[in-house]
Amino acid sequence: MNDYNKAKEWIAGAKNIYAFTGAGISVESGIQPFRGKDGIYGKYDARMLEIEYFLQHPNECWPVIYDVFYRQIKAAKPNVAHIKLAESEAAGKIQGVITQNIDGLHARAGTRNLVEFHGTCSTMVCMQCGNIVNSDDSDFKKLPPVCSHCQSVLKPNFVFFGESIPHSAYDTAMRWMQKCDLLMVIGTSGIVFPAASIPQVATMHGAKIIIINPDESGHQQNQHNLFLKGGAVEVINEIL
Ligand code: OAD
Repeated sequence: MNDYNKAKEWIAGAKNIYAFTGAGISVESGIQPFRGKDGIYGKYDARMLEIEYFLQHPNECWPVIYDVFYRQIKAAKPNVAHIKLAESEAAGKIQGVITQNIDGLHARAGTRNLVEFHGTCSTMVCMQCGNIVNSDDSDFKKLPPVCSHCQSVLKPNFVFFGESIPHSAYDTAMRWMQKCDLLMVIGTSGIVFPAASIPQVATMHGAKIIIINPDESGHQQNQHNLFLKGGAVEVINEIL
């Protein structure tokens, strides 16, 4: 049984609350996670998300990337979990959200203090001239999409395997974790580093952790960690 009272006590007693989210928070918006039985890694070749492979084979990668990410994201809307986090931030109850997700749903829900740790599908970047293009301005009728300035291939503005985390995202996340006293870890398998170090940094600085996930495997329960089993929408509805 989930200890919602304890979660509410922790939330009421904390001054600097942040959320750290992964693909699980967007599952109830119809977006597939990366891992698990419905995960995209079971269906598609993960090399498409390696930077070296993408740069050498943009014609092969782009239709898959469009299908897996852009088509799904266009059809998706923020769910109650995204919206409640945004409302809680507006009400001053939580300070910000760090997400690993590239779907832009936290921004669309209205979260303003947002770190998109792995970048976003909302924009694309020209590999040649650095031009940044809003993805909504492209109809994706012809793939790969190309830069209107120099006609070079555009890359989704998210972090491929083999690329570094953008400095500003990393620095902001670490700064927030140093002052965080309660971190809500929502819908992540927590196995991709350096993102997975974010709860560790918060813990090192004395934060309590509330973990929200339907899958309890690998999650510890102790005086600093509270595990709440369930989908993000159901659990966030209970505690925020
Ligand atoms: P994963 O696909 O690894 O994990 C999704 C997590 O969400 C799992 O722990 C599920 O149990 C949980 N989950 C499923 N349904 C849920 C629901 N309705 N509510 C809450 N949780 C639910 O996704 P991430 O941990 O986000 O990297 O993956 C981390 C990174 O790996 C991604 O950012 C991506 C990928 O490679 C990049 O794109 C660079």
